[in-house]
Amino acid sequence: MPSDSIPTITIIVASTRSTRFADLPLSWIVERLGARDDLAIEVLDLRDNQLPYYDSPTPPARAPRTYYTEAERAIGEALDRADGYLVITNEFNHGYSAALKNVLDHFFVEFRRKAIAFAGYGSVGGSRAIEQLRQVVSELEMASTRHAVHIVGSQMLQIRAEPQSAAGIFEAMNDRLDLVVDDLAWWATALQTARAREVVAA
Ligand SMILES: Cc1cc2nc3c(=O)[nH]c(=O)nc-3n(C[C@H](O)[C@H](O)[C@H](O)COP(=O)(O)O)c2cc1C
Repeated sequence: MPSDSIPTITIIVASTRSTRFADLPLSWIVERLGARDDLAIEVLDLRDNQLPYYDSPTPPARAPRTYYTEAERAIGEALDRADGYLVITNEFNHGYSAALKNVLDHFFVEFRRKAIAFAGYGSVGGSRAIEQLRQVVSELEMASTRHAVHIVGSQMLQIRAEPQSAAGIFEAMNDRLDLVVDDLAWWATALQTARAREVVAA
């Protein structure tokens, strides 16, 4: 992608459950980001294209873009197109989903030197899962934003009890989402420029 084009932000949906809560924040985030003209969005839904557990003979850092299955290729190419990622993450036992870890382990250059931000939900807004993710993405040489979106347990309970309350609850968080995405777009653009300069120099 040329360095002067707007960054592509890929929204990754970590929950693969059929009755997941994730679809509610996903709709809000897609609508809010889709209204911006400073970035393009794609959605990578891990439920659509589930990877088998990692079973490759060579670590992805040493075998860039070597895909052994169609699922790996589809996800790898989607990750490659992105300049930054916004991960919508649930929290299981104070960690993030196994499906998301499996994706993080399958790829390296696709993620490397790109920006990443998080929107979490759970009793404490997915914050424990997000803090774990920050550690992991630093190994992939990614830049994670300082701020994150946190949808807390009381908000989830209210949305579950009164689904019509969801729009108002999310609307009240628009400023927070904008703050996170402004940061993400800044980093995505900066790193997009830096990566393009590297290609030209090579
Ligand atoms: C095995 C299991 C462990 C969970 N652990 C946590 C947890 O540590 N923190 C939390 O906030 N929610 C926890 N939850 C509740 C999930 O946040 C909740 O089920 C959420 O809706 C899952 O996301 P999803 O509906 O998008 O799949 C747990 C749920 C399950 C089934």
